[in-house]
Amino acid sequence: MAEIKACIFDMDGVLVSTEIYHFKAWKRLTETLGFTIDEAFNENLKGVSRSVCIDLILKHGGLAKTQDEKDALAAQKNQWFLEYVQTEITPKNVYPGVIDFLKEVQSRGIKTAIGSASKNAPLLIEKLGIKSYFNAIVDGNMITKAKPNPEVFLKGAELIGVKPENCVVFEDAISGVEAAKNGGMYCIGVGDSTILNKADFCIHSFTEMNFDRLSDL
Ligand code: BG6
Ligand code: MG
Repeated sequence: MAEIKACIFDMDGVLVSTEIYHFKAWKRLTETLGFTIDEAFNENLKGVSRSVCIDLILKHGGLAKTQDEKDALAAQKNQWFLEYVQTEITPKNVYPGVIDFLKEVQSRGIKTAIGSASKNAPLLIEKLGIKSYFNAIVDGNMITKAKPNPEVFLKGAELIGVKPENCVVFEDAISGVEAAKNGGMYCIGVGDSTILNKADFCIHSFTEMNFDRLSDL
């Protein structure tokens, strides 16, 4: 690829182990509605905005709701998600290898940004004490188009002044990998390569990543 000048990271499921709390809260919500969701279905919810998640979930359960009802369901899910986060999240939820990798790339002059669909990203970043590792943060409050639209990553690239072709995106979601590729960026999947099969390649953990490996791309 072209010279790497920036790394853009999704947050949930890439930097921090928060996907499990989203899944727990959505599953709890569906169970109040008389059905349930499994981990395979949850792959479709990763990376996409709260409102798109509600539509996908209701379709899956064969239910139709008014916009007001959907808003109330989304608010309930978010309340549960925040309860899990408040009681369970600590800096230990930052995945192994993440901080070392961020420090290493920053020391080599590579810009770093977060590109997250989550409206809760600012709260989580604060709680985890990781803000100083990033030159820019784009979250769900700053965008209008959900992944796989590339808006979140293009905005991140713009804020740090780097062209898309010089950016590497790290993503754990199918929709997020598609967003990166739609934005003309190189994409490293974090997770199962059979699920993230549109990524340029996949890693399981940041303990596998370092500046030299990045430079070899
Ligand atoms: C993404 C998560 O980062 O943010 C999704 O992968 C989540 O699971 C989405 O639905 C929106 O998050 P929030 O916190 O705004 O409801
Ligand atoms: Mg994610």
